[in-house]
Amino acid sequence: MLHGENLTLNYKDGEGVVEALHEISFRADDHQFIGILGPSGCGKSSLLYMLSGLRKPTKGEVYLDDRPYSRMSENERVGLRRTEFGFVFQQHFLINYLTALENVMVSAPVQDKAHAEQAKALLADLGLGTKLHRFPYELSGGERQRVAIARAMIHRPRIIFADEPTGLLDRRTGLQVMAILRSYREQGSLIAVTHNPEILAEADLIMKLRDGQIVSVEDRVTRRSGEAVL
Ligand SMILES: Nc1ncnc2c1ncn2[C@@H]1O[C@H](COP(=O)(O)OP(=O)(O)O)[C@@H](O)[C@H]1O
Ligand SMILES: [Mg+2]
Repeated sequence: MLHGENLTLNYKDGEGVVEALHEISFRADDHQFIGILGPSGCGKSSLLYMLSGLRKPTKGEVYLDDRPYSRMSENERVGLRRTEFGFVFQQHFLINYLTALENVMVSAPVQDKAHAEQAKALLADLGLGTKLHRFPYELSGGERQRVAIARAMIHRPRIIFADEPTGLLDRRTGLQVMAILRSYREQGSLIAVTHNPEILAEADLIMKLRDGQIVSVEDRVTRRSGEAVL
């Protein structure tokens, strides 16, 4: 459903041009958990930015359901990010003067009672049912990340992009957060990037990235249909 072809991304900085990614091809189907693994600086975040339409590739094209991003207007791409995609980052980026519930509602498509009930139910599912009205600074790191996950899920996106989602959490909390993210596969897809292989233990497919290039793709699924993923 989401695929990228020959994605190359150059950054211009003071000294010249940095090639952050070189001719990457990528494909994610519905209900897949795709892990992108690699050391710091290898281009993981850059790849997510291109796949979610936040950055235009220098070369190559990204398609959602065969619709190329380059033929969409900026408004359409913004719309995609609001409706079809959800984002979880290493830092939660919650709004400090809003409660947990209000932070989730920021992403709700409509500010009505039905969505407020959904947001409460989602937070309760994530173990935060008694902390709906707490501010981010009244929550632990793992709790804040769970609020950020609820915010990424409230509009039922087709794809959740997670950029080092457990990077600031202790190991146990990180594994809990991954279990929650992983469960989203029933509704949509999860694309998670990390330098930590442990959190990708249950990924369907792991792409290893090094210096802006894919060095291996490991298909770890015996898919019901038995088809190859890539
Ligand atoms: N805005 C930018 N301007 C210039 N270089 C950048 C910019 N963002 C990232 N880079 C460079 O691109 C490469 C990949 O960065 P990034 O995608 O952030 O990697 P990762 O997420 O794997 O740590 C690095 O060499 C980084 O320094
Ligand atoms: Mg990064």
